Amino acid sequence: MRRILVTGQGGQLATGLTDALPARDFTPLLVGQPDFDFVDPAGVARAFAAARPEAVVNCAAWTAVDAAEDQEPAAFLANALGPAQLAGLCAAADIPLIQVSTDYVFDGAKGAPYDEADPPAPVSAYGRTKLAGEWAALAGNPRTLVLRTAWVHAPVGRNFVDTMLRLGAEREELRVVADQRGAPTAAPDLADAIAGILAVIRDAGWQPAHRSVFHAVNAGETTWHGFAEAIFAMAGGKRPRVVPIATSDYPTKAHRPADSRLLTRKLAEVFGVTLPSWEDGLRRVLAARG
Ligand SMILES: NC(=O)c1ccc[n+]([C@@H]2O[C@H](COP(=O)([O-])OP(=O)(O)OC[C@H]3O[C@@H](n4cnc5c(N)ncnc54)[C@H](OP(=O)(O)O)[C@@H]3O)[C@@H](O)[C@H]2O)c1
Repeated sequence: MRRILVTGQGGQLATGLTDALPARDFTPLLVGQPDFDFVDPAGVARAFAAARPEAVVNCAAWTAVDAAEDQEPAAFLANALGPAQLAGLCAAADIPLIQVSTDYVFDGAKGAPYDEADPPAPVSAYGRTKLAGEWAALAGNPRTLVLRTAWVHAPVGRNFVDTMLRLGAEREELRVVADQRGAPTAAPDLADAIAGILAVIRDAGWQPAHRSVFHAVNAGETTWHGFAEAIFAMAGGKRPRVVPIATSDYPTKAHRPADSRLLTRKLAEVFGVTLPSWEDGLRRVLAARG
């Protein structure tokens, strides 16, 4: 197993995989829009056939959480129907599919970190469409593994780190939500974890226990406010005041889970894969931004 089809070229996680996969002796085959677009199933099938992959990592997704509230059918197409088609293609080729998913499948009301057996209950259109994608991917291919992550940031693309540094350079004071808990996850660390999972599947073979849901986030936890403070402390340079506010002070179109901490024990037990602390992940991303 060498040739890994990676969808969502140019996105945060797909970009991370371009480094992480070769480090484990895999060849990443990246596909993205406009050639690979879930709105065009024939094009998806063509790209799949041309790549002749031995495994697939689906990083392509509608990730605009607020916009999904008004455009749920379009988000459903990318986040559920797309994975359904990919699962069918992978089943026909008898190859593994890693479907990347999200902490937003939970409502955040548990009051403790979620494990994979906790019942999902999404509170947003994005969460609903991603949950449907998990089911479609698992139902459509005997060799599907769903990997839920959270609060992804990267040296490339629009993300919280990028937004904080941009706004922090312009303003003396930033107001940041302090009552949502989770684990910021560095795309390069998540990409390393995915490469590690694929290496186990390659070396030990696909096992029935792999057809399951796994959580993969950087270790530890914080709030958006704590994350913002850490960004400015580590980045150096101009440091704005970061004022803690409540979610209710910053209304957004989509509801977000208040506490979506994820337990990652299962990933460690089944694959021997762990991610570093979120602070180390942030350091890595800031260093790569230059
Ligand atoms: N970002 C987060 O905080 C976060 C949190 C939890 C889980 N996740 C999950 O992690 C995975 C990777 O996310 P990411 O942060 O790398 O996302 P990202 O940077 O937004 O990249 C998503 C990619 O998907 C592509 N895409 C969008 N619609 C598509 C369609 N209809 N057909 C084909 N490609 C399409 C985008 O292409 P264009 O750029 O051309 O639109 C982009 O390349 C996703 O499954 C996401 O749901 C992300």
